[in-house]
Amino acid sequence: MDYSHQLHHKKWPLNFDLLIPFLKFNQELERELLLNQTKVYFKSEKFIICENLNTKPIWAQDWWPNTRLVNYSTKSDAARLLKSQKNLGVYYNSNSSALAANLRKEIREVPTKRIQYSVPTKFNFKFFAWTILDQENLLICDQPHSRFPLGWNEFNEDKSIPPNRAYLKLWEILCLGYISLNPSDIAIDLGSSPGGWTWALSEQVAKVYSVDKAPLDPKISGSPAIVSYEEDAFKLDPKNFKDATWLFSDIICTPERLYQLVQTWMSQSPIKNFVCTIKFKGPCDFEILKKFNLIENSKIIHLYQNKNEVTWIKQGIQ
Ligand SMILES: C[S@@+](CC[C@H](N)C(=O)[O-])C[C@H]1O[C@@H](n2cnc3c(N)ncnc32)[C@H](O)[C@@H]1O
Repeated sequence: MDYSHQLHHKKWPLNFDLLIPFLKFNQELERELLLNQTKVYFKSEKFIICENLNTKPIWAQDWWPNTRLVNYSTKSDAARLLKSQKNLGVYYNSNSSALAANLRKEIREVPTKRIQYSVPTKFNFKFFAWTILDQENLLICDQPHSRFPLGWNEFNEDKSIPPNRAYLKLWEILCLGYISLNPSDIAIDLGSSPGGWTWALSEQVAKVYSVDKAPLDPKISGSPAIVSYEEDAFKLDPKNFKDATWLFSDIICTPERLYQLVQTWMSQSPIKNFVCTIKFKGPCDFEILKKFNLIENSKIIHLYQNKNEVTWIKQGIQ
């Protein structure tokens, strides 16, 4: 697609941000910006240029605050500009430019590797992010928001134990420090079958109550840290789980039903900490997200590992 008609960057403000949408969720990011009345100056399939923001939008995979438009005249000029940055570089491939391939050979880059899961992560690079806007301008951000370059949160997967790939959502939450668990914590995992989350949790906490109408995979169910119930999660009595400190839910249900479930557990149990997947059948329901957002000490993120769903996290003081 040709976006050159939008390239009136002379009309862009001096300060602007760049957003990279999650793959296939450009429209959700655009809708979110529209609902938030964010001024957008440019959009392509690969990124959006907008006014300065205070927080990362849910549907942005990466957020480059205070991105700079840096004019270059020749290839060697562009190389000089990039080499003058003090940190390692991360290139975002926004237009498959041959020039970019040449420039990348001249600068020091963060190695592109899958994440090795550890809690907390040992990854500690400082880097700048850049891309090519057109034949005269680079876009450079000194401090992109995502911990791992471009929010590309791909892990070295464990293909032996977990029965499905759902555990990667929890790995992302734990490794990136969205929550912190104590070895003495006790977790309830609702909608837990076949057991990816239950397995990941059982490695971090003292006990997991694992609840699903369907059974756990036998590879998981034998663990002494796991107590499994084949039951309807909506019919549990919170009073029977007095020692639990965290509630996790990956149940397939409507956002409204999940909201009711969360309200029940917040009012009828001492649990203060929650991680719940809010799943959408169609487009993102921003109205229900507003309701979740109103719950104290909570936030909504879209994980790299989330598909058409978002994750609601509440970490309170126990
Ligand atoms: C996306 S899967 C969960 C995957 C799981 N987190 C894992 O890591 O393996 C959704 C689960 O919700 C369960 N579910 C749907 N309705 C439920 C209900 N009323 N009570 C308990 N589980 C339910 C389904 O049986 C299904 O196993």
